Amino acid sequence: MLGTTSPWQLQNRTNQTTIANFILLGLVDHYPELQPLLFLAFLAIYFITMAGNLLLVVLVLADLHLHTPMYFFLGNLSCLEICYTSTILPRMLFSLLTGERSISANGCIAQYYFFGSLASTECYLLAVMSYDRYLAICKPLRYTSLMNGRLCLWLICGSWISGFLSNTIITSLEFQLSFCGPNEIDHFFCDLAPVLKLSCSDTHVVELATLILASMDTIPPFLLTLISYVCIISTVLQIKSKVAQQKAFSTCSSHLIVVSLFYGSIFLVYIVPETETLKRLHKMFSLFYTILTPMLNPLIYSLRNREVKEALFRSVRKFSSRIL
Ligand SMILES: *[C@@H]1O[C@H](CO)[C@@H](O)[C@H](O)[C@H]1NC(C)=O
Repeated sequence: MLGTTSPWQLQNRTNQTTIANFILLGLVDHYPELQPLLFLAFLAIYFITMAGNLLLVVLVLADLHLHTPMYFFLGNLSCLEICYTSTILPRMLFSLLTGERSISANGCIAQYYFFGSLASTECYLLAVMSYDRYLAICKPLRYTSLMNGRLCLWLICGSWISGFLSNTIITSLEFQLSFCGPNEIDHFFCDLAPVLKLSCSDTHVVELATLILASMDTIPPFLLTLISYVCIISTVLQIKSKVAQQKAFSTCSSHLIVVSLFYGSIFLVYIVPETETLKRLHKMFSLFYTILTPMLNPLIYSLRNREVKEALFRSVRKFSSRIL
């Protein structure tokens, strides 16, 4: 589907100049003196995100104690986060460093493709992780037989395939649009909505397809996550002993924090109607789900999780005994 051009479009293209580049205005375009500071801040964020997530992936793969479905999902989430931030931050850092704000139209659409696919995959994966916690806490006796290696693999592959499939459709529709007018995008990455606004073709079909597909990518995973947590919390509240209650809840409270951050910011950006005040905060809220959640995920999971901390100590000890 990519690269096909309808006759209608050819006609459109011949009497209009097509725009080859977009200008990404970035996070703050009015204060050039802030750019070096922002560059350093985002460089640090990128470094922490990569280091934290890589560490988590290595721990999950290397430590046999972490070879359980929950940590496999966590390791896969970290792999996802590494790719996810890499679709946005390196490009943003490059702009902050060099002041180069233009991005080719194809590059822009490609950025959206990877960002959107990975974001959808993240929705599914977060839902899978809460379903896993639901089975572990509400159906503890059947957990090991239900959540076996086969199902794990299916759920993970399913998440990636659904995320990429729906965004392949959206992006191939986006590729057919022509751009001939203004080319400034008031954002720090090529999100779909600001790009559609610049198109001079009819965007109704893309918008409708996006609405349907994006709802399919977010609403069922969100509801699954919500229902899982309602069941988890009601089960935990029925436990008589306070200690057991805390233990049961500690395994999923980190996950609940991550999920709330991610969905909360997405909700603010994409669903709450844009008023004047919100418009200015729009980019700031976008920072949460694009850049901050991938950085916070490994921190939240490892700092609040005894098993991850123990695995870290074990591997540090093993590593240092090998060197010394
Ligand atoms: C991702 O999930 C698969 C299937 O459960 C597992 O074998 C693999 O080790 C996981 N990857 C990471 C990095 O955790």
